[in-house]
Amino acid sequence: MKYIYTAVSLLLISIASAANGTIRSELLSLGLSSGSQIGPTSEYTQRWSSYDAPSYVTAVKPATEDDVAKIIAYAIKFSIPFLSIGGGHGFSITLGTLHNGIELDLSNFDTVSVDVQSSTLTIGGAVRFRDILGPLGQAHKEIPIGSESCVGMVDATLGGGSQQPGTSSQLLQRRTRISSGAFVVLASILEVTYSVYNETAPQVLHADFLSAFNASQRILEYFKSFESSLPAELPFILLAAYSSDFGGSSIIVNAVYAGPQAEGEKYLYTLFKFSPIQHNLTMIFWSEINAASFFGTEPSNYTCPTDSPHNVYGGAVYQFDIDTFQEFYENYEQLTSSMPVELNGTVYFIEFFPKQAVETVPSNATVYAWRNTTAHLLFNFAYIDTEGALDNRINEFATAARSNFTSVSGFPQPELYNYPITF
Ligand SMILES: *[C@@H]1O[C@H](CO)[C@@H](O)[C@H](O)[C@H]1NC(C)=O
Ligand SMILES: *[C@@H]1O[C@H](CO)[C@@H](O)[C@H](O)[C@H]1NC(C)=O
Ligand SMILES: *[C@@H]1O[C@H](CO)[C@@H](O)[C@H](O)[C@H]1NC(C)=O
Ligand SMILES: *[C@@H]1O[C@H](CO)[C@@H](O)[C@H](O)[C@H]1NC(C)=O
Ligand SMILES: *[C@@H]1O[C@H](CO)[C@@H](O)[C@H](O)[C@H]1NC(C)=O
Ligand SMILES: *[C@@H]1O[C@H](CO)[C@@H](O)[C@H](O)[C@H]1NC(C)=O
Ligand SMILES: *[C@@H]1O[C@H](CO)[C@@H](O)[C@H](O)[C@H]1NC(C)=O
Ligand SMILES: *[C@@H]1O[C@H](CO)[C@@H](O)[C@H](O)[C@H]1NC(C)=O
Ligand SMILES: *[C@@H]1O[C@H](CO)[C@@H](O)[C@H](O)[C@H]1NC(C)=O
Repeated sequence: MKYIYTAVSLLLISIASAANGTIRSELLSLGLSSGSQIGPTSEYTQRWSSYDAPSYVTAVKPATEDDVAKIIAYAIKFSIPFLSIGGGHGFSITLGTLHNGIELDLSNFDTVSVDVQSSTLTIGGAVRFRDILGPLGQAHKEIPIGSESCVGMVDATLGGGSQQPGTSSQLLQRRTRISSGAFVVLASILEVTYSVYNETAPQVLHADFLSAFNASQRILEYFKSFESSLPAELPFILLAAYSSDFGGSSIIVNAVYAGPQAEGEKYLYTLFKFSPIQHNLTMIFWSEINAASFFGTEPSNYTCPTDSPHNVYGGAVYQFDIDTFQEFYENYEQLTSSMPVELNGTVYFIEFFPKQAVETVPSNATVYAWRNTTAHLLFNFAYIDTEGALDNRINEFATAARSNFTSVSGFPQPELYNYPITF
């Protein structure tokens, strides 16, 4: 991993007295290589969520590692805050305190290479999951991926996990460049090498079940039946949303079984008992999971929308307290179906992934400490009016939900999966 550090303390103080034009002209005078570009942020990689997003006076897109070093040295010298953008799928609201900074767009660091002999994957800092699926799949190698293929892979490495021990555990090599700075915390990661696995199975069983909202309780009971015995081959994602495409309030259960069809179907057959409105069970290559999932709503060339508000809350549980989950779901269903236009795009996920492999990695070995989590909860509220009454209502609703789940989570203290902490 090549990365260049800066001081995190810069984020906490309000700086940038330099006028915008000055920053731009000073960047121009740094002698960056001819392939680098400087311009308004709107013309460069946009962040997925605009909710409490950082703001920049300019973007700079370096062409070489040397350019990156010069830009960072300049920013540190003049105390100008900056953030590196890889996939741009971040939604951390703490970065909303960064104003008048520099967006360091890493798009040029986009190489992907697989070494079959040594079982390694080397990628640039801007590579997204979708970019590695083809090369790795063709090599019959495998690595844990995100369920959203537009997410930056390096960003997700700073969290992450699934059947294999987790992307973050696969980091092999880092090339490090440290600029002078007292507090070494934030990094611009330019290149990462991961170790990869031979694929678990030549093909996997991919399954989607679409149910009406009244199947909620039974699906939760089905999940609970696996609470302490989820097979290592069987991750689930439950997606609940109000969507006119799926006939209103509905629930999709997405499952993958990394093994033979008949074996997977033995675990999944119960879901047929809940009269799914639609289902699809198909054997596919692992590298096709992103494109197939949720009835193929995101084709393999899907590009995530950017720059729209997403107010995201999370939670983690050790056990499924059915009453709490069901009460939440009923409240959520009522909320989203009563404001289908205002809350269009709002989704609630239960990410119920096997943790056998994740637990083999000590909790202090990566930045992701909570390795004992049974299910991750993700509450993703989408709405335009982020300043008014709706914002207050959503924050109250989500805070109450989080506290309800926390009190019955089975953990002695609140825990949370580190979703991509980047930008
Ligand atoms: C600097 O740029 C920001 C973002 O483009 C803009 O909001 C602000 O008004 C500019 N400030 C000056 C002094 O030009
Ligand atoms: C991975 O596959 C290669 C080629 O089939 C084989 O030689 C190697 O032993 C396998 N590695 C492991 C760890 O199974
Ligand atoms: C659930 O809703 C669907 C669709 O509205 C309906 O066909 C089904 O009978 C309902 N099931 C139960 C158990 O209420
Ligand atoms: C089922 O999923 C597979 C894999 O994504 C897809 O190729 C196929 O078209 C789907 N079938 C139906 C009937 O939608
Ligand atoms: C993605 O692929 C589909 C089908 O090949 C095509 O119609 C669409 O234009 C492509 N979208 C982009 C953004 O390339
Ligand atoms: C949280 O729990 C309280 C007490 O059971 C309940 O009244 C409230 O509706 C719950 N909130 C949510 C968002 O589920
Ligand atoms: C929600 O947004 C999608 C496009 O993003 C649109 O197709 C759909 O009609 C919208 N639904 C409602 C209820 O506004
Ligand atoms: C993790 O904790 C164990 C046990 O306390 C300790 O031996 C080990 O050195 C720690 N590892 C790291 C990377 O801090
Ligand atoms: C996992 O968490 C539960 C609940 O806090 C605890 O009882 C159990 O000992 C933990 N297991 C491990 C291996 O940490």
